[in-house]
Amino acid sequence: MLDNKFNLGFFPTPLQKLENLSESYPGYSIFIKRDDLTGLASGGNKTRKLEYLIKQALDEACNTVITAGAQQSNHCRQTAAACAKARLECHLLLGGEEPKVYDGNLLLSSILGAHIHFTGSHRKGEDILQVKKELEVNNHKCFVIPYGGSVLTGALGFVNAVKELKDQLDAQKLKIDYVFFASSSGGMQAGLTLGLELFQLDCELLPINIDKDETGGLSLEEVVLNLINEGSRPLNIKREYTLKDIPLNREYDKAGYGNVTENEKNAILELASKEGILLDPVYTGRAFHAMLDQLKKEKIPSDSNILFWHSGGFPAIFEYADQFHTKKG
Ligand SMILES: Cc1ncc(COP(=O)(O)O)c(C=O)c1O
Repeated sequence: MLDNKFNLGFFPTPLQKLENLSESYPGYSIFIKRDDLTGLASGGNKTRKLEYLIKQALDEACNTVITAGAQQSNHCRQTAAACAKARLECHLLLGGEEPKVYDGNLLLSSILGAHIHFTGSHRKGEDILQVKKELEVNNHKCFVIPYGGSVLTGALGFVNAVKELKDQLDAQKLKIDYVFFASSSGGMQAGLTLGLELFQLDCELLPINIDKDETGGLSLEEVVLNLINEGSRPLNIKREYTLKDIPLNREYDKAGYGNVTENEKNAILELASKEGILLDPVYTGRAFHAMLDQLKKEKIPSDSNILFWHSGGFPAIFEYADQFHTKKG
């Protein structure tokens, strides 16, 4: 099951110690997993999911992929790139109205050859079935990837990622105590949870909620639990999960999805200036701020080894350029 994929990225992604940052947070050793370097048209965590999803689309003899997201969706940009590589036609349903100038991920999706449909207030795939119907009339065989690629097939990418991490930790004789990451449509979190159990890796997941809006009438915890329950049996995982087993820190989502505050901005500037690594304003900037805040407030026991799972997304910075640089005078 975990071998049935279409190769799209460069794995394993690097696991590095953030030496300079760790010096600023005495008592903690901070590491980073560089999924911003998965390599697919500027990288990101969705490449792991897409390796499985695109394989399923090809196995089902589909010739067209449809998915959805925000205009700055990293998932959509990586889907456009994956489709180019797999010779599939790509249709992206992106929230909002068409802007005068394309920027960031939107620009890249368009360069990568995706057909873009602007869907106004719908940014989570509410119109996918309608577009599918229209395409099918014209003889397209469509494979639908729901919002964020967070179905079990996609989550398998992160089950596999735990094996990758475990091998790296063994090789470096390293133990990680806590893993911070941005959680939004739930596939990454569900996959990591299943992977920890399957490969018996002992560390605690600390997912940071990014988007306070629900998807499809379910809380993110419910979405994650459903994916875990669906995946347990085929992966032969005996452990039973309930909502109490699904962690999610909702302290940092108050500004709303895609709204960048001083928190995200300062986190981006701190990692960039101390380590030369770029975060994104929507997901990893918010999650990285949350991690630094938890360390500053000593909410994590000292002497812990902390991992930040960098899930990519830096092209969106260009859409937020005015937050980082304004001309003086
Ligand atoms: C950069 C980045 N990080 C994290 C996530 C969250 O992953 P998931 O949707 O699997 O929860 C996303 C999703 O779009 C993302 O683009």
